[in-house]
Amino acid sequence: MRIVLFTGKGGVGKTTVAAATALRIAASGRKTLIMSTDPAHSLADAFAAELGPEPSEVAPNLWAEEIDPQRRLEENWRDIQQHAIAVLNWAGLDSIQAEELSIIPGLDELFSLADVKSHHDESPYDVLIVDCAPTGETLRLLSLPDIIQWYMDRIFPLERRVMGALRPVAQRITSFPLPGAPVYDAVARFYEKLEGVRQVLTDPSTTSVRLVVNPERMVIAEAMRTFTYLNLFGYRVDSVVVNRLLPPEVSDPYFDRWKQLQAEHLATIESAFTPVPLLRSHLRDRELIGSEALASIGEELYGETDPAGVLFTDDPMRIEPEGEGYVLSLRLPFARKEEVDLSTKGEELFVRVGPYRRTIVLPGVLRSRKVVSATMDDDRLQISFERGHHA
Ligand SMILES: Nc1ncnc2c1ncn2[C@@H]1O[C@H](COP(=O)(O)OP(=O)(O)OP(=O)(O)O)[C@@H](O)[C@H]1O
Ligand SMILES: [Mg+2]
Repeated sequence: MRIVLFTGKGGVGKTTVAAATALRIAASGRKTLIMSTDPAHSLADAFAAELGPEPSEVAPNLWAEEIDPQRRLEENWRDIQQHAIAVLNWAGLDSIQAEELSIIPGLDELFSLADVKSHHDESPYDVLIVDCAPTGETLRLLSLPDIIQWYMDRIFPLERRVMGALRPVAQRITSFPLPGAPVYDAVARFYEKLEGVRQVLTDPSTTSVRLVVNPERMVIAEAMRTFTYLNLFGYRVDSVVVNRLLPPEVSDPYFDRWKQLQAEHLATIESAFTPVPLLRSHLRDRELIGSEALASIGEELYGETDPAGVLFTDDPMRIEPEGEGYVLSLRLPFARKEEVDLSTKGEELFVRVGPYRRTIVLPGVLRSRKVVSATMDDDRLQISFERGHHA
């Protein structure tokens, strides 16, 4: 199954572009499902149709669904949440406050992403199009599996062992609600699910991310940051969609300044995302609602290009021998050298760009070698490891 994710700043046209893409793929004869992970759904508006949590047919070969985030949350989180509530109650919070605090913000959307995995494994569709929440949200969501994986790999087995040994004693001396086996089981299930999602979303032959932008300064700045972070976490961006370009037929002098500005911003976009291909669509004279309007956007965006294709391939992380040592290179477009912070501990390499951190478990050849230098070379962070082994 092919999966294409659309993301970008609020209001840039993600839902519209995702819907137009899905419609065009379906029209070429492939069975397509479009789903929204944004709790503020607007797919139904784009298709001018009633949508629910089960796929419903909106055009030939095309199904759409809007997941009920609350239901997903209850299905997946109940056992863990009950424990969290018990802990918060113990700490003196009343029930309503505890219930509110026991839900990690964004968790509901994360469970929507878990649906991507189940569609990937079980569903009869050829292509899955995902309309994501605005940039910040999606980013946090997408990086969460990485963080949880680290936690689960390092802490969880240990904590579970310690708790198993301590429980009979500890329960007698404190009223602190220790997590029971069902909590651990629920966490383990949750983790397995997320790990599956992460694998599917970072598999370059399966999943591509498309960044939607408008030719506006703030939108571009945010998209560039998103691009860096997506690369940091191993997600492949295969194209950038520039939506709402002023059409050439607009000749009113009132828009001259706007046109000039857009031309400048377009040049910025081109130089910033090259070699990732750009797809373009113009500002229309009305809102884009219904299949006909969406189809015209799809035509403009893709022309002869297969909208379900992998439009660009590049490896975000490479390890190559150099002299007698090795160079690990990470694609971090737009990261400035001052922003990048590196540290190693045992088999792990920590890369920090601004507030984001990634843990990379180093492959055998790099373990126990020291980092001798780190340089930014174009958009790649090149980390050199020394040649000899250190005991
Ligand atoms: N090229 C365009 N020309 C005219 N109108 C457009 C164009 N692209 C999007 N729109 C309109 O702009 C509005 C916002 O678009 P859309 O809902 O796709 O944005 P979004 O990025 O999904 O927003 P949100 O962040 O709220 O989910 C919609 O009314 C849509 O019809
Ligand atoms: Mg939207």
